[in-house]
Amino acid sequence: MVAGNREVDLKAAINAISDVIQNRPRPLREFDQIYMKAGDMVMQSELIARWTNGKRVAFIGDGDAISVSIAYLHKRGIFEYGPSKIVLFDFDERICNAVKRFADKERLDQLDAELYNCLEPFPKCGQFDVFYTNPPWGASNNGESVKVFVGRGMEAIGYAGEGVVVIADDEELAWPKVVLQAVQRFGLENGFFVQKMMSQLHEYHLDDAPDLRSCNLLFKAVSGSKTARPSVATPQEALENFYGRENPPRVLYVREKKRVDYGKANEDEYSFELLDGAK
Ligand SMILES: C[S@@+](CC[C@H](N)C(=O)[O-])C[C@H]1O[C@@H](n2cnc3c(N)ncnc32)[C@H](O)[C@@H]1O
Repeated sequence: MVAGNREVDLKAAINAISDVIQNRPRPLREFDQIYMKAGDMVMQSELIARWTNGKRVAFIGDGDAISVSIAYLHKRGIFEYGPSKIVLFDFDERICNAVKRFADKERLDQLDAELYNCLEPFPKCGQFDVFYTNPPWGASNNGESVKVFVGRGMEAIGYAGEGVVVIADDEELAWPKVVLQAVQRFGLENGFFVQKMMSQLHEYHLDDAPDLRSCNLLFKAVSGSKTARPSVATPQEALENFYGRENPPRVLYVREKKRVDYGKANEDEYSFELLDGAK
């Protein structure tokens, strides 16, 4: 595969992404955890690894595991480029722990994860160069939930640098256009401009809308110097229909009950009917 003028070993890339997918916890649909398909993960990881090369990147939520993919494919030499530091901020302890265990096993020293709910003030303002977010897509709240995640990304980079927002992009539906406009306006109001929009790139494991795609919306800050603005809790009015119609946030953290080996079936998923005479 040729990517950005460079040859990438496609088979090695797909097999490495397959390792990452094996490590992903099962998605919780009520929090908009809807995972990107494997082919799109390969392409997206290549693009994001190149875009973040040598930089410190904050992921604001990442059930897809693009953060893990770019660290892993860089470490394996499949990509010649990748970030110097990656921190995933996610409210799902299963995701954070799965990332940490994978990083530990594969010695991905630049990759870490922190349990964090984006309704709370951001703990590490200005400590990153770029941000990446694939937030709840704001179909029922005109993009308010997208703005919450994007706002935390902007705080992470101290309003200087760049960010990628992965959100719905569809020719037929009305709401993605409303959300795209609202999010672009939010970017402009906060000192950013839209550098690029890569339309209708990604597909998802989404039963009720299998054709719905997302784009990469790339923001860049006008200013080159970091600004320290106080980070505050998300106001109540932004929470209505956060995860869809009549589904406001009610969970601070998703807790991991027991350590699960995600590549293998859970014992509560099956039972054995034994052969005659077998014990
Ligand atoms: C909302 S989903 C969007 C779909 C995306 N394709 C995915 O499944 O990762 C993105 C991530 O945001 C995380 N998330 C959801 N609500 C959150 C919150 N209030 N604070 C922090 N992370 C959150 C989810 O756990 C998930 O990993």
